[in-house]
Amino acid sequence: MNFKLIIARQIHKFLQHTELMTENMRSPRTIGLAWVARTLMNYSNAQVSIDIVNRMKLKKTDHVLELGVGNGLAIKEIAKISGNNVIGIEISAEFRRNLLRMKLPKNIVILENDARDLSNEIPDGSIDKILAINVIYFLKPIREYIVEFKRILKKGGIGYLGCKFESIKNFDIEVAPNRDERAIISQLSGVGFSVSSEFVDLGEDRSRYTFIRFEKK
Ligand SMILES: C[S@@+](CC[C@H](N)C(=O)[O-])C[C@H]1O[C@@H](n2cnc3c(N)ncnc32)[C@H](O)[C@@H]1O
Repeated sequence: MNFKLIIARQIHKFLQHTELMTENMRSPRTIGLAWVARTLMNYSNAQVSIDIVNRMKLKKTDHVLELGVGNGLAIKEIAKISGNNVIGIEISAEFRRNLLRMKLPKNIVILENDARDLSNEIPDGSIDKILAINVIYFLKPIREYIVEFKRILKKGGIGYLGCKFESIKNFDIEVAPNRDERAIISQLSGVGFSVSSEFVDLGEDRSRYTFIRFEKK
């Protein structure tokens, strides 16, 4: 484990379960805490991001949107496959600044919207696949975001969520209210999606996650 990761873990350990730290994991606002979030996310989410993108079975022609790009771990994998622009929604200015510094592939377009309303950027029924890894916990009210997913997806379009419910179970509930798999699935079904889920174990604590797939009929 490298030195940066040890420091980030110590800061996180000290502040974990606080509203401040959960807020910071949702969308960092200050440079120092953004560094902690980025370091922890790079360590925890790299393997999961690659695995989920494989499970999306992307086609070159797919129009793909990722919500909550973070460090860009998944969107870089998507951009290798997609022949179209890949849209990333990233509400945190700190994360966007970092993504700019990373010199991402040219077919990645990062938008600063809150994903609750993408109507100024994304037309109805224009997206084939949506991905959100470690994001759904924070969206409130969740139904409004799910309705927006339905608006932007094409008929037959599919959304994918990667969730680490065990890791976030002690997050501040005000900031991360969506921590229950069944409740999330019920919200997705309630809006008319056909939903399935699967627990994926890639062998380490950091790489165990729940994969939720929802399809617009
Ligand atoms: C816990 S991080 C996960 C980052 C990345 N997907 C990963 O797994 O490493 C949550 C991400 O979602 C973004 N986010 C949270 N709420 C959002 C919203 N309402 N609209 C757009 N982005 C949002 C945050 O800024 C952050 O990048």
